[in-house]
Amino acid sequence: MQKAGKFITFEGIDGAGKSTHIAYVAQALQQRGITVISSREPGGTPLGESLRQILLQEKMHLETEALLMFAVRREHIAQVIEPALQRGDWVISDRFSDASFAYQGGGRKLPLAKLEALEQWVHPHLQPDLTLLFDVPLAVARERLDATRTLDKFEQEQTDFFAGTRAEYLRRAAQFPQRFRIIDSSRAIPEIRKDLDGLIAELLVGEQDE
Ligand code: ADP
Ligand code: TYD
Repeated sequence: MQKAGKFITFEGIDGAGKSTHIAYVAQALQQRGITVISSREPGGTPLGESLRQILLQEKMHLETEALLMFAVRREHIAQVIEPALQRGDWVISDRFSDASFAYQGGGRKLPLAKLEALEQWVHPHLQPDLTLLFDVPLAVARERLDATRTLDKFEQEQTDFFAGTRAEYLRRAAQFPQRFRIIDSSRAIPEIRKDLDGLIAELLVGEQDE
């Protein structure tokens, strides 16, 4: 029987280091014969990438921002995520709905009930099989961001915003312990990779026989 693919998401506040580790995990899985589709949100489709430019640069009403994030996600699920999983491929997404809860909910204080309604509308039956939450103290993330790049609309937010974002991520992780793994991302990259190697081994248990 063809096994359906797995859906893995990477989450964390800006500067936590999640982008640094996505290619490592994708490559490790590919070396074991798995076809991996790497994608991201907001983005993942031509329409989503166009909307990403707007979302990351332009100020807008909070509800417009939340609705657009979920509109991008609807397209991403239809065009990329579901077809890949049905083919038996694995999907790694740099962010998914937990980011909307963390940023629009925890950061900007949109009531979580509104986000839950959007989540129920857009993907009532789809959740990641595994969500890696890269967690760091705010000061560490800020230092990493400041050292490296020109900051987008979200990255320019202040400490209170990221305190709310990080707290909501941790709340979601406690709410859904079966799919979340928290990675202490304040450590050095090789140490974090050792954790990731362990997780990859866990994910692959049973794959060979199916
Ligand atoms: P994110 O995708 O979570 O916003 P990035 O992966 O882009 O974060 O990392 C932000 C910056 O921090 C990059 O310059 C990256 O090289 C650096 N970085 C990432 N992880 C670590 C780490 N564990 N230790 C030190 N620097 C790191
Ligand atoms: P990201 O791809 O992590 O940015 P970068 O390429 O700079 O690492 O994410 C883009 C930004 O969008 C990030 O600041 C978080 C924000 N975001 C939301 O606010 N809500 C969402 O639902 C998603 C998916 C992202």
